[in-house]
Amino acid sequence: MISVTRRYWFPAAHVLRSRALSEEENVSLYGKCANPNGHGHNYGLEVSVAGERDPRTGWIVPPETLDAIVRSRVLDRFDHRLLNEDPLFHDLVPSAENIAIVVYRELAAPLAKAGGGRLVRVAVIETPRNRFDYEETS
Ligand code: NI
Repeated sequence: MISVTRRYWFPAAHVLRSRALSEEENVSLYGKCANPNGHGHNYGLEVSVAGERDPRTGWIVPPETLDAIVRSRVLDRFDHRLLNEDPLFHDLVPSAENIAIVVYRELAAPLAKAGGGRLVRVAVIETPRNRFDYEETS
């Protein structure tokens, strides 16, 4: 299998806080990450697409096609925002795990429709010490 991975960056803020937990439980579980004023990360995002190469170009997907979909579906939406305010996270704590899953689900259909390969992995890099990978097995 051949795949292409492109890397993007977007600064955004989040608060780690669950509606299902009490104030005490949120603070005890998430510590300062539960601070209602939020805190920022410069999120790294990796998007991997696999598939057949176009015999004319040798590419799975033209980079500008992939970039346009990621930009319109994710970067423009999340850039410099408080993720908790996005409807996608209304019932979901915006942990990096959940960000990876939400981004995957936003990208899968438009990438399939564009015709150049299929989405196989989304990775979110939250800090230099952690990354979160999401893949769906079909
Ligand atoms: Ni954080």
